Amino acid sequence: MIRKAVLNDVNAIHALLQFYARKEELLARPLSILYDHLRDFWVYEDPDTGKVVGCCGLQFCWEDLAEIRSLAVDPDFNGQGIGSALTERAIQEAFYFKVKRLFTLTYKPAFFEKFGFSVIHKNELPIKVWSDCVSCVNFPNCNETAMMKQLRIEDAAPIG
Ligand SMILES: CC(C)(COP(=O)(O)OP(=O)(O)OC[C@H]1O[C@@H](n2cnc3c(N)ncnc32)[C@H](O)[C@@H]1OP(=O)(O)O)[C@@H](O)C(=O)NCCC(=O)NCCS
Repeated sequence: MIRKAVLNDVNAIHALLQFYARKEELLARPLSILYDHLRDFWVYEDPDTGKVVGCCGLQFCWEDLAEIRSLAVDPDFNGQGIGSALTERAIQEAFYFKVKRLFTLTYKPAFFEKFGFSVIHKNELPIKVWSDCVSCVNFPNCNETAMMKQLRIEDAAPIG
């Protein structure tokens, strides 16, 4: 079941991000930042156990721009469509908020291509994005790929 994250989910989100950060597949985020940004997050709750096994954040950036970030699915649950469902929910939410351009910085460009994201040059992103980057351990030698999706209003689906 996909739902908005609540305070009790922060430790599970943190653990998922830490797990993949250790494998250098995404960036870890401190607990403090996760609490600040909790309302960005969707989570997937396993209906059998109630455990949070996936997460995805939609973070607003500028007047027409938002970012999909911190997408992670517990490896025991990979390949079941959870990552796709979380991504689609975040895209729907972006439509709801009238985002026109959605970007992501990712090590998995092939995954995001399935959702209509295309590779762009990092310089196309606004300076504000780099405020996060400069505090990253990998700055300035980041291998993440920048990708963008234009949101056309006629493609919007009703938010559930
Ligand atoms: C990438 C990730 C979120 C995918 O989650 P998932 O629940 O396994 O994905 P899904 O089951 O929805 O797979 C959807 C499709 O993407 C494909 N896919 C899954 N992981 C992929 C990857 N790493 N690269 C390319 N394609 C991938 C699947 O094969 C599937 O393709 P299909 O629809 O043609 O069968 C998950 O593997 C993960 O948490 N990875 C580590 C963190 C990460 O890379 N996050 C994304 C970048 S920030």
